[in-house]
Amino acid sequence: MNEVKWLESAVFYEIYPQSFKDSNGDGIGDFNGIIEKLDYIKDLGCTAIWMNPCFDSPFLDAGYDVRDYYKAAPRYGTNDDMKRLFDEVHKRGMHILLDLVPGHTSWEHEWFRQSCKAAPNPYTDRYIWTDNTWEAPEGMNALIGISERVGACGVNFFSHQPALNYGYYRPHKPWQQSTDSPGAKATLEAMKDIMRFWLKAGCDGFRVDMAHSLVKQDEDSKGTIALWQDVRAFLDREFPDAAMVSEWGEPDKSLQGGFHMDFLLHFGPSHYNDLFRCEHPFFGGGGDASEFVKAYTANRDKSGGKGLMCIPSGNHDMTRLAKYIHGGRRKIAFAFLLSMPGAPFIYYGDEIGMRYVEGLYSVEGGYERTGSRSPMQWDDTANAGFGSSPADKLYIPLDPSPDRPTVKAAQADKNSLLNEIRKLTAIRAAHPALQSRGDIEFVYCVKNEYPLAYTRTGDGEKILVVLNPSDREVSFPFAQALGDAIYTYGDHAVRSDGKVTVKPQSAGWYRVADA
Ligand code: NOJ
Repeated sequence: MNEVKWLESAVFYEIYPQSFKDSNGDGIGDFNGIIEKLDYIKDLGCTAIWMNPCFDSPFLDAGYDVRDYYKAAPRYGTNDDMKRLFDEVHKRGMHILLDLVPGHTSWEHEWFRQSCKAAPNPYTDRYIWTDNTWEAPEGMNALIGISERVGACGVNFFSHQPALNYGYYRPHKPWQQSTDSPGAKATLEAMKDIMRFWLKAGCDGFRVDMAHSLVKQDEDSKGTIALWQDVRAFLDREFPDAAMVSEWGEPDKSLQGGFHMDFLLHFGPSHYNDLFRCEHPFFGGGGDASEFVKAYTANRDKSGGKGLMCIPSGNHDMTRLAKYIHGGRRKIAFAFLLSMPGAPFIYYGDEIGMRYVEGLYSVEGGYERTGSRSPMQWDDTANAGFGSSPADKLYIPLDPSPDRPTVKAAQADKNSLLNEIRKLTAIRAAHPALQSRGDIEFVYCVKNEYPLAYTRTGDGEKILVVLNPSDREVSFPFAQALGDAIYTYGDHAVRSDGKVTVKPQSAGWYRVADA
């Protein structure tokens, strides 16, 4: 597999296109709006973008229900506008990943309409169907009573997202197809065609939705890993530079499948939530990071340290970071995110501490996620500078608080989170040890104790990271002398008697002279 060089120093910015910038006043964000703000993203120190699905869709799940993979959703612009966005990204030396949704389509997709027909046709086996209308596929929800064809169709997520057929790892019912059946293979080839189309159009790769879910009854993921290896072989032949990032949450598996990077997320056994989103998060000052570190280390060991794991500040599926982590502690949380291996992901608005908007009605299948998807707050003009539509036409209502954070205010305040992040990304960019591939060794991480300390090593440099979001002065044993600080928030750490002592609510990145 080809290494993708730019991933090694990448810092991603996730754009939820609906809510980023509306350039034409229709209340919804668009490609031209994103283009207008590329310089802002670059100035933040982000070098790459992940854009949520932006394809034609009935938008019952914010675009994760694709109706036509080959067509930009008109509300965002045309395919040519999207290509212009790719060009503008590249002109700035940045990269962009599209969101590929291979596991399911919208029930309005033409493939599904054809697949519902009784008469056999090229799409009959495109989805997972049983041969009995009253029998759902085991372990899945299903659509029943919706087709001329006899059978129930499995769904992957919401009821309007029929599951595409990539086969069963060990089929044992007549209607279950194997991964090398013609139907399953045709689905995979169709997905490769879609990837080919957008890579040719100029995107740099994909974030892959529910990448773990494709082959069914595949307990150890062997079938799904093999499927992704096949995709990687195709990419290596035709698009060796295409970057692949998985929503999987089990790096030992996804990385074997040829993904360059896998997310550690709020689901699965990663303990990611212990850090940012639970009753007592570690970065809230009174929690525990040890289970996270245990899981992280185990994952790293299992994946042979080869591929990358990435930790996001949040995403469109989680409650905003700002709900749980307050004030200066957010800076400490970013001093962590921006000093971990793998490429960090900043969810749009987290850099200014955008809040989770409480009490909203669900929009486009957002449900409780809707409050994390509100329009970006750029300035203090109408609609917070998001766009010129009437306020009641906004896709999701804005945070109504009079003191809602804005980019403009954050830029003007030298102590803002935004300016701290700019500082952190610039330092990360100057030190390969802190980037995706630098080694990590946890130095201090004790259950319910502070601080969290680890070293990052690379390119002949070793850096000690010490994070103390608690209100206590704390110490830990450390045998080496501390060199100069390349970053500090709060008071500088002090080393004496073989111990490093750090003040309450502080963070620091220190050079370490090798012993
Ligand atoms: C994960 C996506 O992040 C989420 O937003 C979506 O609803 C589901 N996959 C289904 O595609």
